[in-house]
Amino acid sequence: MKTYETVKDLQSALQPLRTNGMSVGFVPTMGALHDGHLSLARTLKDHCHVRVCSIFVNPTQFNDPKDYQAYKINLEQDKKLLGQEGVDILFAPSAEEMYPTGFQSKVMVSEVSKPFEGALRPGHFEGVATVVMMLFNAVRPDLAIFGEKDFQQLALLERMVLDLKMNIQIIRGALVRDSDGLALSSRNARLSRDGRQHALLISQGLFAAREAFRKGERRSEALENLVRASISEMPAPIIDYATVVDEATLVPVEEVSGACRMLVVARVEGVRLLDNIALD
Ligand code: PAJ
Repeated sequence: MKTYETVKDLQSALQPLRTNGMSVGFVPTMGALHDGHLSLARTLKDHCHVRVCSIFVNPTQFNDPKDYQAYKINLEQDKKLLGQEGVDILFAPSAEEMYPTGFQSKVMVSEVSKPFEGALRPGHFEGVATVVMMLFNAVRPDLAIFGEKDFQQLALLERMVLDLKMNIQIIRGALVRDSDGLALSSRNARLSRDGRQHALLISQGLFAAREAFRKGERRSEALENLVRASISEMPAPIIDYATVVDEATLVPVEEVSGACRMLVVARVEGVRLLDNIALD
């Protein structure tokens, strides 16, 4: 795997491959890689000739500067993991490379970014959309893969690519869970042993809702109550939201019909845990 730190070097490496007719697939990340990220890198294999990943901890998507300071990654370890997955090229730019002095542009996807994470983390999705647009312009991929774990982010980027007529295929990567059901996240490391056990109530609630859906329940409120009931077994439950939404627009629905998803965020030991499940 070759690593490039500037857009210029990255593009010099990719250009000859592209003129040879090779397709380019891309997985952007912020490092601290776990099997959720690596599953996306693995999926690249089936879709393109040249596999590109990026690692860039994007300052503009942290609404709290303290979270940005606390976001620790181990680049050498991450490089090793990506190499093992058969990634050909890593783009790992500095903050100065991405946001040089004078930088002042923003990409905004208005409606999809308003509710849920957008409402709780002002500016977060503008930061995401802007950096992904820049990464796309640096890599110029034919396709890019994003995880369903961050479902609102995925829906927003699908909308951005569609609206701005970017010729990039977006592929959804399935949410990867631990064997006990907990959605993989770098934040899980902050949980105590007890906290981790309590966190399982989130995915258990989602599985119960999907089960009820499969048995015929279509009322969102009834499905949401199953998730809330499970989470309420925690010692001090805090639910930011547990809502059934339309997958494309993220607008809440009263009755499930067509592609819908239950989105949930609960806090365990002060850690916000995001999870979701398709109702199908
Ligand atoms: P990051 O949180 O590092 O995630 C990188 C990619 O991995 C995202 O597409 C995310 O949805 C996916 N991912 C994380 N956990 C997953 C899991 N358990 N199962 C499946 N996929 C999972 O998301 C970002 O970085 C940034 O916002 C980024 C898009 C790179 C822009 O800065």
